[in-house]
Amino acid sequence: MEVIEKIALMQEVSEKWRGDGNIISLVPTMGFLHQGHIELLRVGRQKGDRLIMSIFVNPIQFGPQEDYETYPRDAEGDLNKARSAGVDAVFMPTVKEMYPDGFQSTVRVEEITKYLCGKSRPGHFDGVTTVVAKLFSTTKPHLAIFGQKDYQQLVVIKRMVRDLNMDTGIIGVPTVREADGLAISSRNSYLSPEERSSALSLKKGLGLAKAMVAEGEKDPVKIKNAVRELILSHPFTEIDYITICDPEKLADIEIIDGPCLLALAVRVGKARLIDNAIVREN
Ligand code: PAJ
Repeated sequence: MEVIEKIALMQEVSEKWRGDGNIISLVPTMGFLHQGHIELLRVGRQKGDRLIMSIFVNPIQFGPQEDYETYPRDAEGDLNKARSAGVDAVFMPTVKEMYPDGFQSTVRVEEITKYLCGKSRPGHFDGVTTVVAKLFSTTKPHLAIFGQKDYQQLVVIKRMVRDLNMDTGIIGVPTVREADGLAISSRNSYLSPEERSSALSLKKGLGLAKAMVAEGEKDPVKIKNAVRELILSHPFTEIDYITICDPEKLADIEIIDGPCLLALAVRVGKARLIDNAIVREN
């Protein structure tokens, strides 16, 4: 497995692999790998001839009050896991390599970044689309794999690729969960055992919403209130947002009569956790 820090070298390696007729898959990550990332690697391995994983904790997608400095890091553990997952190259640049002095460009997707996490994390998605565009032009992937856990991120990246005619296929992978249903996240490492029990309320909320829709409830407000009440009945929880929206446009919906997504963000102790589910398919 190659470990590459320089953009120019990564471009050279990818160019060579492409020239030899290989399909390149890319799995972008911020490291501290868990089973969710490993699942994306499995899909990438299966769909491509050469598998690249990037590890880069991207400073420009964190707000000033967010956890950039304390975001968990484990380069050595990550490289071992990458090796076991059959990764061919790990692209692991420094911040200076990605954002040298004089850097001043941004890739922005306008509309769909205004909702959900875009509302509570201003500038976050500009940071994501800018770094992902850079990762694409560095690793030149035919395919890039993203998790549905970060549902809005997946939709925003698909939009960017379509709008800018990027020649990369985007594949979404279902959320990987712990046995009890908690969506796996690097930020789960911030949770104390008591907070971890409360964190289960996110998944329970999604389950409640699904059940209410299945029983015929059509009013998003009633569902959101019930989910809010359920989550707040657990200690240490503070709700950032609970939204029922169109799964593609991400705008709120007034009545449930077609496909819809429930997305939520909840602070549990110092961890800000997100989860989502399609509560009605069509
Ligand atoms: P990170 O949070 O490290 O996540 C990397 C990828 O793993 C994302 O596509 C995310 O959706 C996916 N993922 C995380 N938890 C998952 C789970 N439980 N099940 C399935 N997939 C999961 O997302 C980022 O990094 C960054 O924003 C990045 C795209 C790398 C840009 O900096």
